[in-house]
Amino acid sequence: MKLSELISPAMRHTGMGAVMNGASFVTRLLPFPQPTLMVGPGSSARLGESIAGMGYQKILIVTDAIIVKLGLTKALTQALEAGGVAYVVFDRITPDAPIPLIEEGLAFFKEHDCDAIVAFGGGSAMDAAKVIAVAANNPKPLRALAGYFKGRNSPVPIYAVPTTAGTGSEVTVAAVVSDPERHKKLVVMDLRVVPRMAALDPELMTGLPPAITAATGIDALTHAVEAYLGKWATAYTDSMALSAVGMIFENLPVAYADGRNLAAREKMALASTYAGLAFTRANVGYVHAIAHQFGGLYHTPHGLANAIMLPHVLDYSAPVATARLAQLALRAGLGREDESEDDLADRFIAGVRELNRRLGIPTTLDALREEDIPALAQAACEEALLGYPVPRYMDQATCEAIIRKVLPRAGAGDADAAPRKRKTAPRKAATKAAAKTAAKTASTAKKAAPRARKPRTVA
Ligand SMILES: NC(=O)c1ccc[n+]([C@@H]2O[C@H](COP(=O)([O-])OP(=O)(O)OC[C@H]3O[C@@H](n4cnc5c(N)ncnc54)[C@H](O)[C@@H]3O)[C@@H](O)[C@H]2O)c1
Ligand SMILES: [Fe+2]
Repeated sequence: MKLSELISPAMRHTGMGAVMNGASFVTRLLPFPQPTLMVGPGSSARLGESIAGMGYQKILIVTDAIIVKLGLTKALTQALEAGGVAYVVFDRITPDAPIPLIEEGLAFFKEHDCDAIVAFGGGSAMDAAKVIAVAANNPKPLRALAGYFKGRNSPVPIYAVPTTAGTGSEVTVAAVVSDPERHKKLVVMDLRVVPRMAALDPELMTGLPPAITAATGIDALTHAVEAYLGKWATAYTDSMALSAVGMIFENLPVAYADGRNLAAREKMALASTYAGLAFTRANVGYVHAIAHQFGGLYHTPHGLANAIMLPHVLDYSAPVATARLAQLALRAGLGREDESEDDLADRFIAGVRELNRRLGIPTTLDALREEDIPALAQAACEEALLGYPVPRYMDQATCEAIIRKVLPRAGAGDADAAPRKRKTAPRKAATKAAAKTAAKTASTAKKAAPRARKPRTVA
């Protein structure tokens, strides 16, 4: 029997909420480290100059072959050379770095007698680097490092240069890798995996293809939104999350349409870091719980999985998160302060759907198969129930139904974009974009049954 099955439905709604609220006191007390940030064009070279002055014997740069081929590591390595510090490059990381690859990286680290690591790339390279850093000082099987604070000794010093604007891994306590044998993602959580310094260099991101820009950008949005809606949110995480949401709605479409726009790239890099600062403290929710299962089983890119699920999970959370969704709508520029919270909450969810559409995000997941849904839902429910302070827990059947909405044959996705039942008539939209999305939402709403605002008891 799975651990989550031992927790009754009633406990899910009252007990887990209380447990998670209690846990928030603990998370508030934890001394989350924060890296020194260098921001702007050329900051990866400046980071190299700083590291070169720190007295390391040999630096390991962990990255992937595409990044090296694009010459993105050059500014950093030139600065290391100019500063007279030796380095070696491990460039074999692949998306969602599988355990055997981490073991290779670890062997490389030891073979070259390295004493510090630069995590250079998207989340996959950064997280692989973090796990190598933990494993280098904690000789035990890699799987045994998954979970909270499993390494007794501190990792070797980590520095980070993100090349996607999405994961926020440059500031988070998490490292996600994959276990190909069990088709699962593993998360190593430790305050000490937060890098000491990070460079947010928009010049490294100008060649990021539009589809990756879109998916990773929505990953950052999901971090901000889940952190903002969750029970561990604090004034600090709220301010980070709200800033990130505003910056993403404004800049992601620009960076998607014109990848060379340095200002938009820099804002996205900052937004991703702000979202990382929010969720590393306030955690994530069901979007991630489900996306991790898609990643483990189908290797769906993490951001894409999040983007497909985000509107559906928001629909589910909306009845208990109206006020917070309304705040998100205001920050995203999707409505006016004099509108009702219900209208604004609807606008935010419709705005997310519209943003996905503009970014070419599909509404369904091609790889998803009906027969996999029960196990995917069970694993997602367990992940959320035991780890995430979500505004509203769901049971297995509800989770299955939500996942089923993105089945390719359903072809629906957005057909479910029904706004919650309104008390008041919809008001005039504040902006053209909001008016468009609201109109679209209203037309689909006619076809679908309106949801009741009161939280449903999902037994
Ligand atoms: N540690 C955390 O806090 C955290 C948070 C969210 C996600 N993650 C994990 O991060 C991973 C996903 O990371 P990601 O979304 O950044 O993708 P990724 O690192 O897997 O990179 C995706 C692709 O983009 C390419 N790429 C990266 N930067 C590029 C650039 N500047 N130009 C051209 N191509 C570039 C990579 O070579 C790769 O092929 C997942 O495993 C996810 O679970 C970790
Ligand atoms: Fe994520």
